Amino acid sequence: MSEAAALAVQGLSAGYGGRAVLAGLSLPPVRPGTLTGLIGPNAAGKTTLLRALAGLVPAKGSVRLGAVELARLDGPARARHVTYMPQSLPQRSGLTVLESVLAAGRASAAALPERAARLHALETLERLGIADLALRSLAALSGGQRQLASLAQCLVRAPALLLLDEPTSALDIRHQHGVMQLAAEVAAERGMVVLAVLHDIALASRWCARLVVLAEGAVVADGPPEAAITPALLARVYGVQARVERCSRGQVQVMVDGLA
Ligand SMILES: Nc1ncnc2c1ncn2[C@@H]1O[C@H](COP(=O)(O)OP(=O)(O)O)[C@@H](O)[C@H]1O
Ligand SMILES: [Mg+2]
Repeated sequence: MSEAAALAVQGLSAGYGGRAVLAGLSLPPVRPGTLTGLIGPNAAGKTTLLRALAGLVPAKGSVRLGAVELARLDGPARARHVTYMPQSLPQRSGLTVLESVLAAGRASAAALPERAARLHALETLERLGIADLALRSLAALSGGQRQLASLAQCLVRAPALLLLDEPTSALDIRHQHGVMQLAAEVAAERGMVVLAVLHDIALASRWCARLVVLAEGAVVADGPPEAAITPALLARVYGVQARVERCSRGQVQVMVDGLA
């Protein structure tokens, strides 16, 4: 596979116990090297979509990464291309943060020799601002610290497709932006496709080149933030009366005046 492969999704269907959540969802190619945000109301199917892309729920349809049809790969082969960071993070292991990151790297297609792996793991923790947590037990971390440790585990796997499910939900404002900035840098450095579920529209608009808006399992808007996010969309999808303005730096701002 080439270093910078786009993600193409065609006719993806997935659900639970015979109930469809996604019914034939397609996406224009998702470019590598930048961040793509996936937003939408609760229960829209965002997690189901990421899990279907990762092969973690049974799905029908085509999920291509460059020339590779992921849907045809078995679990371990697919896991070499795709990493999914779940929304809730059970970290009941007895490992330290550093050990967990080393273990993630060892289990990946990007496994490095021991010494280089250690350096890379420490550098990743440093970039996430949690080098001081390296020797702490995962079980003894706060929710936000655990989220950052989990992201470090995902990054050392160096997947071609990184799926982040609400990666900033437990983080303070500085770490929210820190995580998005790092994800953007790593996406550009490695030519990686990054799809991140986010609830904060301002944060998503600040860092994502493209926003895909999902409602009831269907794509209802897709494009650069300033085109995708409109008052009509916010009323229809979220049921809020809102103004959408650009601040002096051109970033999208959403002001909610009430419920529609
Ligand atoms: N494991 C499951 N079993 C049955 N239904 C589920 C399961 N996970 C999610 N669902 C249902 O699928 C729909 C989409 O859920 P989900 O993809 O988690 O939404 P989102 O991440 O957008 O909030 C919801 O109606 C939810 O109740
Ligand atoms: Mg979800």
